[in-house]
Amino acid sequence: MPNEAVLQSLRDVLGADGVLAGDDLAQRRHADWSGLPAAAPLALLRPRSTQQVSQALAVCHRYRQPVVVQGGLSGLAGGACTQEGDVALSLERMNAIEEVDEASGTMTVQAGVTLQAVQERAQDLGLMFALDLGARGSCTIGGNLGTNAGGNRVIKYGMAREQVLDLEAVLADGRVVGGLRKMVKNNTGLDLKNLLIGSEGTLGVITRAVLRLRALPGAAATAFCGLAGYDSVTALLRRAQQCLPGGVSAFEVMWPGYYDYVMAKVPSVKPPLAGPHRYYVLLESTGGGRRHQEDFEQLLEDCLAQGIIEDAAVAATARDALAFWGVRDAPAEFPRLMPGLIAFDVSFSIRDIGVAAQTCADRLRANWPASTALVYGHLGDGNLHLIVDVPGATDAVAAQVEAMVYGLVGEYGGSVSAEHGIGLKKRQELGRTRSRADLDAMGAIKQALDPRNILNRGKLFPDEVIGTSFY
Ligand code: LAC
Ligand code: ZN
Repeated sequence: MPNEAVLQSLRDVLGADGVLAGDDLAQRRHADWSGLPAAAPLALLRPRSTQQVSQALAVCHRYRQPVVVQGGLSGLAGGACTQEGDVALSLERMNAIEEVDEASGTMTVQAGVTLQAVQERAQDLGLMFALDLGARGSCTIGGNLGTNAGGNRVIKYGMAREQVLDLEAVLADGRVVGGLRKMVKNNTGLDLKNLLIGSEGTLGVITRAVLRLRALPGAAATAFCGLAGYDSVTALLRRAQQCLPGGVSAFEVMWPGYYDYVMAKVPSVKPPLAGPHRYYVLLESTGGGRRHQEDFEQLLEDCLAQGIIEDAAVAATARDALAFWGVRDAPAEFPRLMPGLIAFDVSFSIRDIGVAAQTCADRLRANWPASTALVYGHLGDGNLHLIVDVPGATDAVAAQVEAMVYGLVGEYGGSVSAEHGIGLKKRQELGRTRSRADLDAMGAIKQALDPRNILNRGKLFPDEVIGTSFY
């Protein structure tokens, strides 16, 4: 049996406890949080070192055995779901923080470490790892880098890509590339690090990384604002970026449909503002300086006086700030409240978001009058999250809703994925955002680095890009 031969070779390099199969896999989850189905893998590989990852991939390459690398399985695009015939590769036994170098501002980690463990270690030393997202307790650095994760602080610090100075990865045939250098400036030809980041496990397995640490801000000021029009939203963003010495660390916008739904359905969340408004903005600025809070409040007073904002609640304590964030983090409850929801993570230029969101709402109402649409997102980064619930929707209706939303993204020159990635979920939509020449270039890179197409087969690349040219 070919499967037995592969598994035996994998046991030879990883040891018996490095290859789980059969009943040992029964308790494990194989799917991520996308809601897409997954099949049990033939085996789950648990290497302890880069060398073991290299040996295991060399075996898989030899046998043409498809491999899906998995982190914390909190992805939302199905990129880590295993399908029939795959083996899964988890870095759960490679979760060490190998070194913190305070002088260089770096932390060297193995890819299986959780995001939260990295954040906490940095914080203990008065430093910060700037990436942050809701799944911090379960997601891993390998997954964060593989998907180029975004989250709530992108506006100030950038996506996962910006938080890494170097990385080590294993290619499909077992060769190890990259390194663990600690420099920001390292201008030495094609950037394999940035090619691997966001490649969603299709080009190599990231095994270790040098993370970039930042100074821990001394203070955070947070407000929840109500605004009357989209021009005011963009005016507030510009003013805050110009006037706040610490800049803007979060600019999260919620449309009234979202706000009203959360207030009605999520009992733990309390309304920060009394009146109804057309837009709600959670504004946060982190920094230091003695006048941090005063400067922040002065900005809000000026914006009130000039009619840019209608009302604002300023957090007096960290607890208030958490309560404001509770309004923004309520979507964690949505799958329970709307089991059939259709979720989108898309982006537009900031200028276009107001009209794009309105057009989307109008088209939804025209075609599906009973639908609910909740709109919110990291507006400072051009990123909208849209939740659509059509009561009793069949798969065909869901597909029509998706075609409508992604069509709109195409009309406005937006992106079909702002931060969650492509995975299984959006690979057939990729051509709406990437040109044919882009896709061909991506396919050529895939073929050069993974000529047998064993790494995360069937993910990210649309069918037409993965032709018959693989050997
Ligand atoms: C959010 C995640 C789901 O912003 O991207 O809520
Ligand atoms: Zn998000």
